[in-house]
Amino acid sequence: MELENYQKATNYIKSKMGNISPKLAIVLGSGLGVIADEFEDLITIKYKDIPGFPVSTVSGHAGELLIGKINGVSVIAMNGRFHYYEGYDLKDVTFPIRVFHLLGINDLLLTNAAGGINLDFKVGDFMVINDQLSFFAESALRGKNLEEFGTRFPSMSQIYDKDLSQKLLDIINKYTSHAQTGVYAYMKGPAYETPAEIRALRILGADAVGMSTVPEAIIAKHCGMRVVGVSCITNMAAGIPSNLSIETKELSHKEVNETADRVRFVFKDIVKEYIQLF
Ligand code: HPA
Repeated sequence: MELENYQKATNYIKSKMGNISPKLAIVLGSGLGVIADEFEDLITIKYKDIPGFPVSTVSGHAGELLIGKINGVSVIAMNGRFHYYEGYDLKDVTFPIRVFHLLGINDLLLTNAAGGINLDFKVGDFMVINDQLSFFAESALRGKNLEEFGTRFPSMSQIYDKDLSQKLLDIINKYTSHAQTGVYAYMKGPAYETPAEIRALRILGADAVGMSTVPEAIIAKHCGMRVVGVSCITNMAAGIPSNLSIETKELSHKEVNETADRVRFVFKDIVKEYIQLF
């Protein structure tokens, strides 16, 4: 992927955006696309129309960019993201993030559905991500470094912006009694983890696990964006008894979608209030 590829997509989006200049980019995770209803003067751009953009394949993930104002603040949102397990290269998975950067956007909010590993967590909690684990997966920065975006060996000692993360946590606390913070572990998927993998991840310091977010966070940090991440704990990870029953049960995409569905309205309120910070 060359700078030119990112520039082509950026120019196409600019040509559709009119005079809007978004302050914040949001990546909407599984089932969390409900914010789409909140836009004033909504402009929708289908991924398939943007040069160089990959196209989303998972059910529950739409494939479009939403651009407009929410309570007066200009934002751009990805309704549907790309995952490594779909077969994309990590350069494709993270393509939109560099396009946001070239659009002049400095702030990124990453959202996702995740499995709870921390035994204090409950299904329906929201975890503000304070760090991440992915050393067992390929880096999205592998390959030729594009100096226009950032340095070859970027620091990852503080990926998630502390101040904004605290503000998001305060907002979650205002709307729910389910606010958590913790470390997000990235797994490539698409199979859910085994109980042995989850036990190992807990020992390594993970509080939640999922199949997204980390590649985007690394690419955003590389080009100097301020990153904030939040996980909706849609299920307890493999082998961990859920708060609904003492039995451990088989994990399913259905459970993930059902929880995301249940919390999406409070999630929408949280995101709406977060947007007001910009
Ligand atoms: N594991 C991985 N990804 C997930 C999970 C999980 O338990 N829940 C939602 N996304």
